[in-house]
Amino acid sequence: MKFDEIVLTGDRPTGPLHLGHYVGSLANRIELQERYKQYIMIADVQALTDNYEHPEKIRQNILQVALDYLAIGIDPAKSTIFIQSMIPEIAELTVFYLNFVTIARLKRNPTVKTEIDQKGYGEQVTAGFLMYPVSQAADITIVKGSLVPVGEDQLPVIEQTNELVRAFNRTYGAEVFPEAKAIISQAPRLAGIDGKAKMSKSLNNAIFLCDSADEVARKVMQMYTDPDHLRVEDPGKIEGNVVFAYLDIFDADKDAVQALKEHYRRGGLGDVKLKRRLIDVLNTFLEPIRVRRNLFAQDPHAVMEILMRGTAATQEVARATMQQVRSVMHLDYSSR
Ligand code: TRP
Repeated sequence: MKFDEIVLTGDRPTGPLHLGHYVGSLANRIELQERYKQYIMIADVQALTDNYEHPEKIRQNILQVALDYLAIGIDPAKSTIFIQSMIPEIAELTVFYLNFVTIARLKRNPTVKTEIDQKGYGEQVTAGFLMYPVSQAADITIVKGSLVPVGEDQLPVIEQTNELVRAFNRTYGAEVFPEAKAIISQAPRLAGIDGKAKMSKSLNNAIFLCDSADEVARKVMQMYTDPDHLRVEDPGKIEGNVVFAYLDIFDADKDAVQALKEHYRRGGLGDVKLKRRLIDVLNTFLEPIRVRRNLFAQDPHAVMEILMRGTAATQEVARATMQQVRSVMHLDYSSR
């Protein structure tokens, strides 16, 4: 192998992380850090592309996201956590990549297209937002990342990364960057508590890793079940029932869940009883995470210190990469 496998992943710090993040990507990172060199990027620059008027929101969430990482067991001795904006080489590489992509291609990117529609930008879309996949290619390649765990919706971004990698390598006649392989989570996507397919802070249907036991209970009690299951004795539906979807993922006692499903289908099992079980299951899962989170939260200075150490390590790698880039692009003026 010419390149070592390196994992690059990250999150936009627009809010604390929730159970959907956990199931979709965080759990996976705890395993990946045992097998690979893993970089975890707090994507503040990318978060600003649609929050540039509210930098304070991004600023506040840096610590929240870092606390979530540490609380779930991301180990800074194994994973390198860094802040995107502190690696100016990423912005530099983005500028060089921009020569290899047309505006038409950026507008066709299915991920970006969907987001532009969702946000209603239309022709008002900013250049910064439109080109975020190029910046993401730079995120990945600045550390020569070859494995990128992402949700399925991000696949077109990885494809675009590889178009840039190939074009760059071909044009400058050197294998500077490896192509990136997406690692798609095998876990089913976690629905929101309202039954919408996706859990998200902006949809207001999320259970956060930092929610208190009472908040979890309150949210589970609101959870979407089967709208036709009005009386306890009525037969209920499992399909689309969020409580069962969560039990399937978080309840270790699969036989018990199976028995509950049968009982629910037959009728005679009330939503409240079912929800009480889920509250227990979720709080048992979240309690050790909460304890660790609170522990780290008592010393925010130490947490920022962890981020600064990870960032410093990444800066070193980024500088080496850019030296190579400058060399193949005949931009290495000072070393001649
Ligand atoms: N776009 C990702 C998200 O919204 C975050 C991200 C930024 C990322 N750069 C990345 C993920 C590079 C993987 C690789 O969650």
